[in-house]
Amino acid sequence: MKPYAIKQINLDEYTNCNAIWNMQTCPYTNIFIEQIKAGNRDVFILTVDDDYTAECDLVYDNPEYGTIPGERLYFSRLIVKRSERGKGYGEAISLYLLDKAKEKGYKSIALGVDCDNTAAVNLYKKLGFIVYEEAEDKDGKFYRMEKAL
Ligand SMILES: CC(C)(COP(=O)(O)OP(=O)(O)OC[C@H]1O[C@@H](n2cnc3c(N)ncnc32)[C@H](O)[C@@H]1OP(=O)(O)O)[C@@H](O)C(=O)NCCC(=O)NCCS
Repeated sequence: MKPYAIKQINLDEYTNCNAIWNMQTCPYTNIFIEQIKAGNRDVFILTVDDDYTAECDLVYDNPEYGTIPGERLYFSRLIVKRSERGKGYGEAISLYLLDKAKEKGYKSIALGVDCDNTAAVNLYKKLGFIVYEEAEDKDGKFYRMEKAL
């Protein structure tokens, strides 16, 4: 892992995330943009030599995923640029966001992850998340996980 920096970005900088994931083809891009505009999604990025390498977001109001105002928030959109996976950046940005969520006064954090996404499930377990429910949507089976902060 190379030296890295993590910062929150604003809507003007959001298109730079195209270096990490394809914003044109992702069906959720517009939803994310609306959430950022509404102040309901904070976007954090990890850069290596100023290159956008990983993203992870905090979402404040998403009751479907168990958010409770001022108490539990939602960990969203963790993604590392494909060529940079397996080097520790996913864990690094996750740890930063868990600290950030705690700093903001939240007591716990929730997320959803596809049951067959072994890399992500392993990472979340390593970070101390526990599965509290197995659910299913149009994309298949997923776990609802939670961690006390
Ligand atoms: C999931 C993801 C963010 C992990 O990021 P990463 O930078 O590659 O992971 P790290 O190098 O920080 O690894 C941290 C831990 O994750 C787990 N992990 C990461 N890659 C793994 C793999 N290929 N297989 C199994 N476990 C893996 C391990 O527990 C690892 O800890 P270890 O190195 O002590 O074994 C990355 O694979 C990714 O971007 N995937 C596509 C997007 C995605 O699925 N996001 C999750 C949505 S819920």
